[in-house]
Amino acid sequence: MSERLVVVSNRVAGDRPPAGGLVFALHDCLTANGGVWIGSAAETVASPADKLHHAPAQGYDRYLFDLSQIDHDRFYLGYSNSVLWPLCHGRTDLMDLREDHFNGYLDVNARLADQMKDVLQQDDLIWIHDYHFFPLARELRKRGITNRIGFFLHIPFPAGHDLLALSHASDLIDWIGAYDLVGLQSERDVAQLLQAVRDHPETEILRTGQLRVGDRVVNLRAFPIGIDVNSFRDDIDMSTDAPVHLGQDEKLVFGVDRLDYSKGLPQRFDGFEHYLEHRDADTPSATFLQVAPISRGEVAAYQDIRATLEQKAGAINGAHGTPDWMPIRYISQPMVRASVARTMRLASVGLVTPLIDGMNLVAKEFVAAQDPEDPGVLVLSKLAGAAEQMDAALLVNPYDPSQIGGAIRTALTLPLEERRARHATLLAGIESQDIHWWTRTYLENLRRSQMVPDVRMTA
Ligand code: G6P
Repeated sequence: MSERLVVVSNRVAGDRPPAGGLVFALHDCLTANGGVWIGSAAETVASPADKLHHAPAQGYDRYLFDLSQIDHDRFYLGYSNSVLWPLCHGRTDLMDLREDHFNGYLDVNARLADQMKDVLQQDDLIWIHDYHFFPLARELRKRGITNRIGFFLHIPFPAGHDLLALSHASDLIDWIGAYDLVGLQSERDVAQLLQAVRDHPETEILRTGQLRVGDRVVNLRAFPIGIDVNSFRDDIDMSTDAPVHLGQDEKLVFGVDRLDYSKGLPQRFDGFEHYLEHRDADTPSATFLQVAPISRGEVAAYQDIRATLEQKAGAINGAHGTPDWMPIRYISQPMVRASVARTMRLASVGLVTPLIDGMNLVAKEFVAAQDPEDPGVLVLSKLAGAAEQMDAALLVNPYDPSQIGGAIRTALTLPLEERRARHATLLAGIESQDIHWWTRTYLENLRRSQMVPDVRMTA
């Protein structure tokens, strides 16, 4: 039997917006390579089926698993998004630790492992994505699955001191130990995971750089995720009416993010206000469009960030707007990908300023969307994983509105030659490490991953 790729992620393509970068990346990867994609069904059901539902998609096979409302509350809203997400994004203050949510998380992972047994074949290469499924390989191993199993974490790996806030921190390392290959977005994340391993009594770091967790050896590496540059560029349809209309000589500053407290949106709004307050006659006039579709709206922390932004946008527009001009256009409706791409193309400045981010594919999309002859300028947070690869952007501290405001001003006044040079460097980077490079490199490493002879670290 020949090798088949089996991808697991909570979200699958073709369900509901907003989706985030992961879904687009996996959709592009599976469309190019074929295989099977397993994920959760869009709607909850009263009693989840025992089996996966087959839902073929174009170019690959898709299987969906059911969640009940209780599963959704405990597994998705609860442990995944009110414990692991804030933990990994340095917001331990927002963690909501509840034993029933932890148990619900384990139950969904165990049930999915049972259901996957029916569709898995001997030569399948299994690739599990993101924090919803840390324990899935451990559950599959318990059921006798010996296939190669890889994991990729799309979000940051938590810092060592933050892990102390997790009641089950040693389980996290134990779960990781059931994979053959763990992929992270950046070198920063690799360093954090190595620190967590050092702090764990039953693990060690081998001289080869691999991890020993119990009796297993796990390979570990950063694989910065990329985008399908051509497919994103092809989405720009210049023949349709522009999605945004600007006044004469008016520049566009653009941000697009899932509405999330990790994205640094209040600081970004303050940064734009700083630009408005420090504008002089030589600085072009600019409107800031922020698209931030509502995400995980049932979680209190997400309701709070929404209220904060609405209040801030109103206050800034009240203070700086004129009867025929609103400096900030803030919308929480999702925008289709083609309109995002077209709007990026129109923008003079792309603002990507998360307080922390695994990678941030919006930064890469913004570069892909530009006209190389007259490109817009990317203002990028130093704390996004993307900054490790994209230092030709204007890098800023996302906590400091004066840096964001200053960078907007710099971006709007940068000479054409420098804009072109920075853009060419960034474009070459995202073209060479694109989504196909990412998939190929990860899967080559997963195929090669195997137990190695015992090479203990001698300090
Ligand atoms: C991030 C996560 C993904 C998640 C996406 C959207 O990109 O890494 O796993 O799917 O956000 O979040 P949601 O909760 O709406 O699926």
